[in-house]
Order: sequence, then structure tokens, then C-alpha cells
Amino acid sequence: MKDFIFDVKTKILFGEDQLENLGREIKKYGNKVLLCYGTGSIKKNGIYDDIVGELKKDGIEYFELAGIEPNPRVDSAREGIRLVREHGISFILAVGGGSTIDCAKLIAGGYKLDCDPWNILTGKAKIEEALPIGVVLTLSATGSEMDDSAVITNLETKEKLAFANAHVLPKFALMNPKYTFTVPKYHTAAGTADIMSHTMENYFTLDDCYFQDGVAEAILKTCVKYGRRAMDEPENYEARANLMWASTWAINGLLSTGKSADWSVHPIEHEVSAYFDITHGVGLAIITPRWLEYCMNEETTPKIARFAREVFEVEERDDKKAAELGILALYKFFESLDIPMHLRDTGVTEDKLEEMAKMTIEHKRRNIRGFVELSEEAVLEILRKSF
Ligand code: NZQ
Ligand code: ZN
Repeated sequence: MKDFIFDVKTKILFGEDQLENLGREIKKYGNKVLLCYGTGSIKKNGIYDDIVGELKKDGIEYFELAGIEPNPRVDSAREGIRLVREHGISFILAVGGGSTIDCAKLIAGGYKLDCDPWNILTGKAKIEEALPIGVVLTLSATGSEMDDSAVITNLETKEKLAFANAHVLPKFALMNPKYTFTVPKYHTAAGTADIMSHTMENYFTLDDCYFQDGVAEAILKTCVKYGRRAMDEPENYEARANLMWASTWAINGLLSTGKSADWSVHPIEHEVSAYFDITHGVGLAIITPRWLEYCMNEETTPKIARFAREVFEVEERDDKKAAELGILALYKFFESLDIPMHLRDTGVTEDKLEEMAKMTIEHKRRNIRGFVELSEEAVLEILRKSF
């Protein structure tokens, strides 16, 4: 295990009776709030009324940025920054899933810079300070509620890029599993796949980290146990609560401590969503089994075999056979969540595969050095198999 620093200070308010703590947590940082949310779900399911009622009760002034899109656009962050400047906002409250939270992070980090916020994504500008952010999570998937990253789309340049900066780590996250009861089946499935992918990106390395890998296996088993159940019984609190807590721990840094993970599937998927605006978790589910197949060699096979035995209870003594059965079980699991398992079934067209492979490596500025090294040709092979 390599040396590491683990320093994640997001306060978690978990459970069904945490709303009354919201005002107190916000007031620690400011009392003029930019309330950020998505394209309408929180108005339909009553979460908006809950939050606004609480802000009013606590005498907190708020302004609204509504309509943040899935795969959030840089334009929404530009509008948020305009509102922050115009109204002298001191706190940002993101109510939603990863898209809303990520947009809030770019607003928080971009409002002080005297350049366009897209420069943060391209690395031309760096966040030195940020407005404090709080989160009310409504979808279990990205873990953005307890990490310092954001992923933003620029439709003009057809780019979907990420940045990470400690200043935008949320101060708190209110996580009420009941707020995810209304997440549709499709997004419950995609969210489950996203949680699993974050876990696997950290798990599949050649490092020997017994503790972290044991936690990773527990998260994967949680997804396998509760993913379908949450789809069939959307108001099953136990299922929703387990998925919610799993999503946070999959990506808050614990699983990558002491390891040399270089994420492989995410950079490929980000190109696919940049070109075709597909749902992130669906893209990951399609690409991951093909990536694992590509990764199989003498060095990596024992780890994939361990995954097969621990997560999918594969009873096969031969490592190669066990690994193959594990990859098949993963594929079948995603299929059982009704995820279309080919890119062509999500609107992706074959003529763009080469361009997406090229851009994956171009954005990375080098080969991906994950479980196995991936060059542009390797990425293209994986995309072709995923097609
Ligand atoms: O637009 P709204 O009204 O919010 O509706 C959303 C959206 O249509 C809906 N939804 C959310 N909560 C709901 C609900 N519908 C009913 N009831 C609820 N309680 O679900 C749809 C998807 O929401 P979105 O926020 O886009 O999903 P997700 O949380 O999966 O976020 C995806 C984005 O996060 C990025 C992805 O690339 C993508 O852009 N990621 C962010 C990461 C991070 N910050 O660390 C890491 C991830 O790997 C990922 O890349
Ligand atoms: Zn993800």
C-alpha cells in the first residue's frame, strides 16, 4: 500500500429526519443562497416545497437557478455566476443529482475568476477560492455530494471535461433516501452502474490493498443486492438507503487510497456522452465488460477471478475460467437492470468511434495507465466491441 493523505470534510446528514438541520448548516456559511436544481423533478415530487419551506422558516433569502440539464452545460454555470454576482450570493445549495451538484461546483469556483468558467475545465484557469456549497441529494450515482470533482459539457466544442479542486468539496450533504423514491427505473439502473464503475475503476489495479478491496467488494455486492430491488420496489427504504450510502463511498477517495488507479472507462465514456449526450451510467455499463475482457492477461486475470468469486459467487477454481464467468455475470447483471448493452442501441453511430477514441487520448494527453495501458488503438477496439 502506498502512502496517502485522506482529507474529506463533507458533513453527512443521513436519513429521513434531517431537514430541520438544513437552515442551521447553511447559516454557518451565509444567508443569501443560490438554490440550484434540475429540469423539474424536485417540483413534481415535493422536494422543492420541502426545501423552500425550510429556507423561509429560517429566514434565509434565496435566488433560483433552475433547469440544469443532465450532462450539465457550461452555459448553466455561466448563468449561475451571473446571478451570484448580481445578488451578492454567499452560499450555493444544490438540490439534485450529479449534474446539478457539478454545475454548482463550477459556479462556486468560477464566480471570482475574471475569465470564462470553461477555462477551469481546459486547465487554463485555476480555482483559488470558492463559495461554500451544500447538497441535498436526490439521486444515488455520482458521489459528487462528497467529492471535489465536477464534469461539465460544452456543446459548442463537443467536449465533456472534468476538473477537481478541494475548494469545491461540499460542506455538507443532506441525504434522505426517501428523496430518491421517485427516481425512475432507468436512472436507478444507470446510477447503480455508475456506483459500480467508480468502485471498479479503483478496485482493478495490481496493488495489494486488502482493506480497500474488501470495502470495494462490499459496495459492489450492495449494488448487486439492491439495484434491481430499488427498481422493482421504488419505495423500499432499505434498498434506497444502501444504494445512497454506497454511492458516496465509491468515489469519496477511500477506495483509491494507497492505490495507483488511473481511471479507464470514465474517460472513454465521457467522450461518448460528449458526442451523443447519452446517460453516463448506461455508457459505463456497456463499456465496462468489454474493457475487462480487453484487460485479461497473466497479471490481471487473478484479480478479475477474485472479483468473480467475491462479488458474483462464481465457483470455479481455474482463474481464467472464473474471470471469464465473472465478466459474463457482470454483463448479465447490467442486462437484468434493463440497460441496453450496445452503444448502437443508445443512439451512438459507428462513424464516430474513431474520433471518440482519438479524443479520449487527446484529452488525457497520454495513454491511460490503468489496469492495463490503453492506447488510442486499444480504446477503439473497446469501443468497437461495445458498439
Ligand atoms: O433534471 P432533474 O429534474 O434533476 O431530473 C433528473 C435527471 O432527469 C432526474 N432525477 C434526479 N433526482 C430525481 C430525478 N427524477 C426523479 N426523482 C428524483 N429524486 O434524473 C435524471 C438524471 O439526473 P443527473 O443529475 O443527470 O444524474 P446523475 O446523478 O447520474 O449525474 C450525472 C452527471 O454527473 C457526472 C456525469 O458525467 C453526468 O454529467 N459525473 C460526476 C462525477 C463527479 N462529480 O464526481 C463523477 C461521475 O463519474 C460522473 O462523471
Ligand atoms: Zn461515473
